[in-house]
Amino acid sequence: MRKIEEYLERDIVIRDGRIVDLRPHKNADVKAKLVTPGLFDAHTHIPFVGSRAKEFYMRARGKTYLEILQAGGGIHYTSHLVRLASEDELYSVSASYIAEFTKHGVVGIECKSGYGLDKENELKQLRVIKQLKETLPNKIASTFLGLHAKPKEKSVGEYISEMEELLAEISKERLADFVDVFCDKGAYLPEEIEDFLKFSKSLGFKIRLHADEIENVGAARFGARLEAVSVDHVLKVTKEDIQELSNSNTMVTLMPNTSFYLGESFAPAREIIDSGIPVALGSDFNPGSAPIFMPSFVMHLAIRFLKMEPEEVLTAYTVNSAHLLGFDSGLVRPGYPADLVLWKTNEFLNIPYMWQENFVEHVLINGRMVV
Ligand code: NIG
Ligand code: FE
Repeated sequence: MRKIEEYLERDIVIRDGRIVDLRPHKNADVKAKLVTPGLFDAHTHIPFVGSRAKEFYMRARGKTYLEILQAGGGIHYTSHLVRLASEDELYSVSASYIAEFTKHGVVGIECKSGYGLDKENELKQLRVIKQLKETLPNKIASTFLGLHAKPKEKSVGEYISEMEELLAEISKERLADFVDVFCDKGAYLPEEIEDFLKFSKSLGFKIRLHADEIENVGAARFGARLEAVSVDHVLKVTKEDIQELSNSNTMVTLMPNTSFYLGESFAPAREIIDSGIPVALGSDFNPGSAPIFMPSFVMHLAIRFLKMEPEEVLTAYTVNSAHLLGFDSGLVRPGYPADLVLWKTNEFLNIPYMWQENFVEHVLINGRMVV
């Protein structure tokens, strides 16, 4: 891997939104800055509305994430609020969250459903994502997460067949690129969702999984066997799981801020990376387990607790995340779109180090300055 230093002292020539040349920097009057590819957040739960601050307090007093979910709170509480919200409301809250991400250097982001939990409201969330895609400058990937929580109003079998019916409509209207399932204790187990995921694949959707976040239910291994494009969280994976993942094409998405926020263990990132598995980073931004959007803080935790090298952090947040989300971006190289961040510091490590400072000076998406 090239060191960041090699990219200093270059002019980036941009034409029609693309990088066309990198030439030695000649103009000594221009103040040198660090330029990196724009960041891609590989995993968020936008769109949502509302706060779960009360649950934050309950967990601080000893209740667990799963206890709150099983008592009808957690995802169900946000779902209640999302069902009440109009499409316009959902759109404007989400657009302002994404604007906040952009100010912190995020050019591309994954959005997903999963708080509708019925046909009408899952579709509502996906339509909001479509509208965000059409109106914001950011590169947005859309994921259908209908199987996010167990239904409260009906049997699991009934709910899964409803979501299967919905897949056809989502496919016809091109409302999602990915299908994701929360595969964990208290959510869905591999044997419950195998048919659903195979059907999703047959319709052309790419598969992702929330895998082994709370307990090891064999989700990461299952994802590798199903050729998922990514298994996410993987806090509880074993050496054998990592071995199996390293023999597959499945990526891993790491979100250390969720571990931090829930007071959980961290994913064995060093073992994962050292076994050759490509990793992406994301914020998991959601009101329950990760009300944290700042990439600098995710980077801080990645260096501190995942023991990632700064170069690995930058790679995971740019080219790897972009690739996972299906965007040809994330490199400062001729031919690539000019999706760039100009930082106020020349030292990349300052960004995760003093994570509360927003070091972003400008953000370019397809050569257009959006910040
Ligand atoms: O990635 N684990 C499942 N889903 C989210 C949390 C969603 C919520 O609590 O609202 C996660 O942690
Ligand atoms: Fe998540």
